[in-house]
Amino acid sequence: MDKNIIVIINEDFSLLSQMGEMVKDLSHTPVLFHNPEESLKYLEKTEPHLVITDLFFKNLKHGKIWHKLKSISTVKNILIVSNQISNELGRDVIREGALDYFVAPVGKEQIKLVLAKLKIKFKKSVNYKRFISRNPRMLSVLKVVESAAKSRATVLIRGESGVGKELIARMIHEKSDRRNAPFIAINCAALPDTLLESELFGHEKGSFTGAIATKSGKFELANNGTILLDEITEMDFSLQAKLLRVLQEREIDRVGGSSPIKVDIRVIATTNRNIKEIIEKNQFREDLFYRLNVIPILIPPLRERLDDIPVLCDFFIKKHCEINKIEEKTIDKTALEKLSKYHWPGNVRELENIIERAVIISPNKVIDHKYIIFEDELENLYEDDFLIKNPSLNTEESIASDDSLKIIPGTTISEMEKKLIIETLKHVNDNRTVAAELLGISVRTLRNKLNEYKEQGTLL
Ligand SMILES: Nc1ncnc2c1ncn2[C@@H]1O[C@H](COP(=O)(O)OP(=O)(O)OP(=O)(O)O)[C@@H](O)[C@H]1O
Ligand SMILES: [Mg+2]
Repeated sequence: MDKNIIVIINEDFSLLSQMGEMVKDLSHTPVLFHNPEESLKYLEKTEPHLVITDLFFKNLKHGKIWHKLKSISTVKNILIVSNQISNELGRDVIREGALDYFVAPVGKEQIKLVLAKLKIKFKKSVNYKRFISRNPRMLSVLKVVESAAKSRATVLIRGESGVGKELIARMIHEKSDRRNAPFIAINCAALPDTLLESELFGHEKGSFTGAIATKSGKFELANNGTILLDEITEMDFSLQAKLLRVLQEREIDRVGGSSPIKVDIRVIATTNRNIKEIIEKNQFREDLFYRLNVIPILIPPLRERLDDIPVLCDFFIKKHCEINKIEEKTIDKTALEKLSKYHWPGNVRELENIIERAVIISPNKVIDHKYIIFEDELENLYEDDFLIKNPSLNTEESIASDDSLKIIPGTTISEMEKKLIIETLKHVNDNRTVAAELLGISVRTLRNKLNEYKEQGTLL
């Protein structure tokens, strides 16, 4: 990340230069974009401290800038400055992760405030990227990570889903001297083969139907940095041959391109499948495997390092108390015992979800086993009336104190439903996952309902 750069995107030239001056006065380097498409290209390669953007652009093809910015991994902090923003929209973007919003023109003091906010956020978030472990086997894996970081060698990280493969890949990048260049992750299972090739290596204009402009691939964009090829075994056999060439020659061919392009890049690949078996079935090239497996890293599943559970719990409790602005909690022996008897199919990701839920639903400062709820117990929960009997989850209190939920004959079921949904969300500090659980509906259904209310204009 470049802590100095602040990218400003606005189609209004005078606003743009005004904000540029303010940013300079605040000792940051402004990078100004009048054209939103250009800014997106730039952002794929650079991680700025902050992006200050309008929400509405005349010259933006396909869709909204907000969603585009959100999908770029280098964009971590967004401030909206727009002369068309309503409070309602402003609240929506904040809910979706924007730092703040202002109606243009904005003053220097306002930007200063956001930078101060960012400083606090940075201090808080920085530690959450750590890989927490006290397990001896895992600690020796971390030693390999340290030494791998110093080299350019290709790394193959294996391990079940949710064990922390991506976290380790990012650590390798952060600890290497490439840390100021991009880290770009691409999931090989997420795209069809032809698209994946052009996504990785880029394409020349006109090389296939739909290639309306020349586009750089991720390998070019991540030049001097690190590329993470997630779920490498899902890559098509013929593309595997092309990747092998890139690893050997350190150059790429754009689709439809005539001359190769040199790249200096560290490749990290991950898989959660048994790669040896896949090679035996002739679905993965053995030569590519050896090229990738220069530094093998195997992350053991959580069930094989149960001694990590207490330290991970402490870490996630702290994290989620802070995020949810809850006074810090602790966990007791009964809860830890329950956690250590579980088989952890979803590994650390699952543990984090369970702890997040426990932090939110436990009314007590000390979390005990009753609030440790595994995924497969969630369904029974409603049958057991657990939530209704549980005082912390009982909404009776809020029902009594809030006239809006009184049963008034003449109210339609859908009106009641809406009120219940909104009250439940309030009760859990807008945490949609927990609200959906309490309501006994899926997060998707909850989201659809909220969108419906938004469209009707009845939701603030
Ligand atoms: N040892 C750890 N310490 C702290 N956080 C961890 C640890 N291991 C995993 N996590 C967290 O658990 C979550 C899952 O980790 P990650 O995304 O790295 O898993 P993964 O192995 O890449 O999973 P998948 O195969 O499903 O992509 C992340 O939020 C990560 O930060
Ligand atoms: Mg992953």
